[in-house]
Amino acid sequence: MAKLNNNYLKLKAGYLFPEIGRRVKLFSDSNPENADNLIRCGIGDVTEPLPLAARDAMKAAVDELGHHETFRGYGPEQGYDFLRAAIADGDYRDNGISVEDDEIFVSDGSKCDTGNILDIFGNGNKIAITDPVYPVYVDTNVMAGNTGEANESGAYEGIHYMPCHAENGFVPEIPQERVDLIYLCYPNNPTGATATREQLEKWVSYAREQGAIILYDAAYQAFIQDQSVPRSIYEIDGARECAIEFRSFSKNGGFTGVRCAFTVVPKELMAEDENGERRSLHPLWSRRQSTKFNSVSYPVQKAAEALYSDAGKNEVKSLITHYMENAKKLRSACSEIGLSVYGGENAPYVWVACPESIDSWGMFDKMLNEAKVVITPGAGFGEAGEGFFRISAFNSKSNVDTVCERLKATL
Ligand code: MLT
Repeated sequence: MAKLNNNYLKLKAGYLFPEIGRRVKLFSDSNPENADNLIRCGIGDVTEPLPLAARDAMKAAVDELGHHETFRGYGPEQGYDFLRAAIADGDYRDNGISVEDDEIFVSDGSKCDTGNILDIFGNGNKIAITDPVYPVYVDTNVMAGNTGEANESGAYEGIHYMPCHAENGFVPEIPQERVDLIYLCYPNNPTGATATREQLEKWVSYAREQGAIILYDAAYQAFIQDQSVPRSIYEIDGARECAIEFRSFSKNGGFTGVRCAFTVVPKELMAEDENGERRSLHPLWSRRQSTKFNSVSYPVQKAAEALYSDAGKNEVKSLITHYMENAKKLRSACSEIGLSVYGGENAPYVWVACPESIDSWGMFDKMLNEAKVVITPGAGFGEAGEGFFRISAFNSKSNVDTVCERLKATL
């Protein structure tokens, strides 16, 4: 009989967001009168329409595909040159950061890339992951066989968990032991925290000393308001030798349904082969993409390119302002109730301490049943997330106003 991948059997319960979806459906099915009244601030999914610049570019690209002269079939697996250049210029070189066009790999999402990147790393790497964490980093390592079994609280044997709490500003301490792959996400999902330049410098210096690689998820960089906070790990000297950066158009351009993102793999980045020889990872990722991926459709890449036009940049800015105003209101509402509030100042997530005597799934149920608001329970992001809940600022203004009223009436 065919054998399955036993690692999948180690996975604890469902992926967080489908599990929330399941509970919400159950609630809606048994309370049909309240189903329309429900406001979703759980998954960080955008609500505002796609920028006009992106729509126009996408439509024009679709028209090109309608004529023999301009028709295109398969594109380059790493992404079209026009988009790779727009990204390298717009996100890096224009900000004084050196990244070459062919170090940009266009993809259909950072969730996919942060999981797929494990294809180019061998077995036996010690994986360091923050707690709480975006669950994809953990689950993809379980699937890849990089962990043992989970214990009763859901922590997997073999993973080096790095607790993040209010006292360390939700930025982990440098490990005392050697680790090989380090997942960092700033602005952080789920806590909304940011890492300072000094903190990132320490991480880069640790990674270089240890020969470790930082997998830096910067999907929320566009939400940074404080100019002193680094937007890219490559703002830190030496990061090109020890970091891969993941970015996405999902949250800044409203592309969660359109799908486009990219990963930066600098050519200097090395890892060891089984003979202890240092080899560049860039050709490996390029090869991986050529074999397993056909990039993103031409109209979508044209839409992403349009986000770098003047009109596109203005529209992105308005979207960010919209969501950050929501975050501000949510922060104030929670503070007014007397809850401890974190994040939401440079990120679209507000991270809130649950009222005493209620745990995070208890809070989820209370908010669902009494306030008719979907939030995300902190425990879904890891053991250290217990006692917190996350509110996503991705919503319309009027929904956020209603959520603030309901929060105050419920707690
Ligand atoms: C979240 O809510 O954490 C995000 O939407 C997840 C994602 O971007 O995949």
